[in-house]
Amino acid sequence: MTTNDHASDTIEALFKEQRRFEPPAAFAARANAKAGIYEEAERDYLAFWSSWADKLEWSAPYRDVLEWKEPFAKWFVGGELNASVNALDRHVKAGRGSRIAFYFEGEPGDRREITYAALLADVCRFANGLRERGVKKGDRVAIYMPMIPELPVAMLACARVGAAHSVIFGGFSSDAIVDRVNDAECSTIITADQGWRRGKKVPLKDTVDVALAQTPGVERVIVAKRVGDAVEMKAGRDAWWDDVIAGQPETCEPEAMDSEDLLFLLYTSGTTAKPKGIMHTTAGYLTGVTATHDLVFDLKEDDIFWCTADIGWVTGHSYIVYGPLCNGAVSVLYEGTPDYPDKDRLWDIVERYKVTILYTAPTAIRTFMKWGVEYVQKHDLSSLRLLGSVGEPINPEAWMWYHEHIGGGRCPIVDTWWQTETGAIAIAPLPGITTTKPGSATKPFPGILADIVDEAGKSVPLGGGGYIVLRRPWPSMLRGIYGAPERYVETYWSKFEHMYLAGDGCNRDVEGDYWFMGRIDDVMNVSGHRISTTEVESALVDHPAVAEAAVVGKTDDTTGQAICCFVSLRGSNPGSPELGDELRKHVGDKLGKFTTPKYLTFTQELPKTRSGKIMRRLLRDIAEGRMLGDTTTLADSSVVAELQERAKAEAGKED
Ligand code: WT7
Repeated sequence: MTTNDHASDTIEALFKEQRRFEPPAAFAARANAKAGIYEEAERDYLAFWSSWADKLEWSAPYRDVLEWKEPFAKWFVGGELNASVNALDRHVKAGRGSRIAFYFEGEPGDRREITYAALLADVCRFANGLRERGVKKGDRVAIYMPMIPELPVAMLACARVGAAHSVIFGGFSSDAIVDRVNDAECSTIITADQGWRRGKKVPLKDTVDVALAQTPGVERVIVAKRVGDAVEMKAGRDAWWDDVIAGQPETCEPEAMDSEDLLFLLYTSGTTAKPKGIMHTTAGYLTGVTATHDLVFDLKEDDIFWCTADIGWVTGHSYIVYGPLCNGAVSVLYEGTPDYPDKDRLWDIVERYKVTILYTAPTAIRTFMKWGVEYVQKHDLSSLRLLGSVGEPINPEAWMWYHEHIGGGRCPIVDTWWQTETGAIAIAPLPGITTTKPGSATKPFPGILADIVDEAGKSVPLGGGGYIVLRRPWPSMLRGIYGAPERYVETYWSKFEHMYLAGDGCNRDVEGDYWFMGRIDDVMNVSGHRISTTEVESALVDHPAVAEAAVVGKTDDTTGQAICCFVSLRGSNPGSPELGDELRKHVGDKLGKFTTPKYLTFTQELPKTRSGKIMRRLLRDIAEGRMLGDTTTLADSSVVAELQERAKAEAGKED
């Protein structure tokens, strides 16, 4: 690549990784995906996707596979179906009602086995309760809950009555609830009294109560009892879950939904402060998660599947709830943290339920590495046969550690690249076919047409890096940003003509394998959470002492990236460690504890270009302690020296 090529500025193609792992022969012999699947899907990608849609249960058949009015897609046009019927009823009807849907394990150690029949009954009772209280087709319902069985029940009950759910991660603060509930005009919030996290009680209902002062559109709140302490209940508005389901029948007529009816909204950070309500519709989404869950995880009848993600993120929507249930899988649902009561909790669970497929995140894997292999070795992990990774690029060391210590050297690893927006896995190995390489997500899923392009939108030949784009629609693609069609076009379909812009940097090696390099824009990825730098900056500037702030991600061994803030204060305030702590807490309070900045440096001024744009690249270099590049476009270059000194001092304290 040439040095004046912009894409090569942001991504360097340095392929040092030479290790390769062929699919084990025994694994390949019984794999769901057979050789030839890529060619077959390429010959007719619409036929490929419709073969998966045809595995769903429809109450009215679809006429056309795709109607594409770029960039607006309609998949399986004219069809009617219900997501909860596809997740539950059809398995029960097929005589599989006594099959376990979830092995639930609560953080305090309580356990429940929930069959498909029991889950269907729970969903129907709750759906009847929702209907009786006026929740109807076309409504939006916010869900702010811990990882307890009532969470998937609430989601599926919404789907049954035709209301779109908007799950808000239980770690978010009340401000985040306010923004999301108001943006989606939710009429109902479903929550719990409290949740368990690392042995402590998380005050969910109290947090919702704070939000409710600023969400005038909310008519009703339903509260599941998880912990049991008293919480405030406002008469006429708040109801206990148990009262909502009391006396309700265990059957409930499902709403017939159009293929393109909204199934859910899920908010994700963008480069501006306002989170985007990503829209997913019914048939295409279910088709995408069904196909990918079956083929990428090579799902078999006797598998015990465990995705450790939180249902508050898309990974949990697609690979705890909709994908596994549509495929009739047996899954584990775990409420808590991996280090409670001790750092071997995950391995204890794998051993107890004889988990065969484990899907987790690189940030978790790096944490396990730090804790030490002795926690792993206490347990028998021989049931495992396949491992998955998602959320951020997995570094080869972590991949190898995962392979050796968790997979016992025998389990293929599927590194799966996708986004809230793609709805389902888009780039990943098919474990019976693909030769894997530590750190590479390998190849686009059958039917997905990906490419790497340069700044001009020109395809970069194999061996080079640039922007990852998708060149044709796919069934589980986002249908838009709720209430902001222009922002949808502008964010994803404007930079390059006829291409979906994912916003990630990516290299593709000479064999056509994809190596992801992180976001090209300014979104940080902290422990797999996508956090907008702008949102953190806004939260800082919200504090009365702060004049200006610039936020960048700094590489972090454990969390992938850590939040690093440069703050200039109002007046002549030089700043103090106390004020630093106060600002960190302020950010955590505003956006949720997991956004609490790790590094915070005071500076008189931020480095800006002459046109007044903050020089982020420079701040990133300073944060990483790298040599400085060309700074001649700075308005005041003395700022840089000062900033660099302070960043060094700050990093020293952390060590
Ligand atoms: C962003 C999407 C996909 C579910 C969880 C996150 C990064 C995700 C990988 C991977 C490299 C990855 C990308 C992507 N990402 N998976 N296997 N390798 N990067 O969903 O919050 O929408 O974040 O996560 O940067 O764009 P999300």
